Amino acid sequence: MNDVYRGPLLEAEYVYVPMRDGIDVSHRVILYLEDISVSFDGFKALNNLTLHIDAGELRSIIGPNGAGKTTMMDVITGKTRPDSGTAFLGQSIDLLRLTEPEIAARGIGRKFQKPTVFEQHTVFENLELAMKANKSPWASMFSRLDSEARDKIAAMLTTIRLSEEAKRLAGLLSHGQKQWLEIGMLLIQEPQLLLLDEPVAGMTDEETERTAELFVALAGKHSLVVVEHDMAFIKRLGGKVTVLHEGAVLAEGSLDTVRNDPRVIEVYLGR
Ligand SMILES: Nc1ncnc2c1ncn2[C@@H]1O[C@H](COP(=O)(O)OP(=O)(O)O)[C@@H](O)[C@H]1O
Ligand SMILES: [Mg+2]
Repeated sequence: MNDVYRGPLLEAEYVYVPMRDGIDVSHRVILYLEDISVSFDGFKALNNLTLHIDAGELRSIIGPNGAGKTTMMDVITGKTRPDSGTAFLGQSIDLLRLTEPEIAARGIGRKFQKPTVFEQHTVFENLELAMKANKSPWASMFSRLDSEARDKIAAMLTTIRLSEEAKRLAGLLSHGQKQWLEIGMLLIQEPQLLLLDEPVAGMTDEETERTAELFVALAGKHSLVVVEHDMAFIKRLGGKVTVLHEGAVLAEGSLDTVRNDPRVIEVYLGR
């Protein structure tokens, strides 16, 4: 964190602006979505969606199929342009003015549902490639790993519990291990905000538990937004839960609070 003093606004008066890696989080909020609407052929996938994520928060997003969860992530990452609304990273980065790669470069990482690792490369090489992803191909082809970079990869292997598998081809990993490797590939680029779409789908109970431990450990340093259906997993994450329904926020609070909300029960059971 590099806090800066920006000013003077009024004569000789300075305003304290807390920063996290170049992102102004002076209102503690890392992500603002305000009144976001997206329609597909007249159908409103997002309908005036308003959502704030605090810096360092671990937020879970739930909601029935078709609620707009994936579309929300598409808007945040620049894949889909909303018809209306506002989307900011911190106080000053207008996401709706940036392209997909520009948004990624500003520190928003996204994990899609299916693992997308380089199967013909080793686990170590996958992390190495991810670390060099923001360099030019020319630079990365001729750059050799210095000891600092090797240490960073080794630390990431420990974090994602794949130290023993470093030399294995990624294609030979279990489904859960591939998911962790892809999470490691995102983390090694040091994102400010990490979006994860159904990260534990298809994982064993043991892998799911390990993943919950990992996310809890990452919160604080990173901000995480996790879309999941697995309620036991969400309970384990312990953070605030947002329920999406028909493209808007239906309820928000602890898992127990939203689970006992009659409107949420209606949406989940009333169909
Ligand atoms: N590219 C698209 N074209 C048309 N309809 C879409 C498109 N993407 C999503 N939708 C529709 O928008 C709604 C929300 O989808 P989605 O965001 O994927 O929901 P969720 O991830 O919560 O299941 C769904 O009804 C879906 O069919
Ligand atoms: Mg989805």
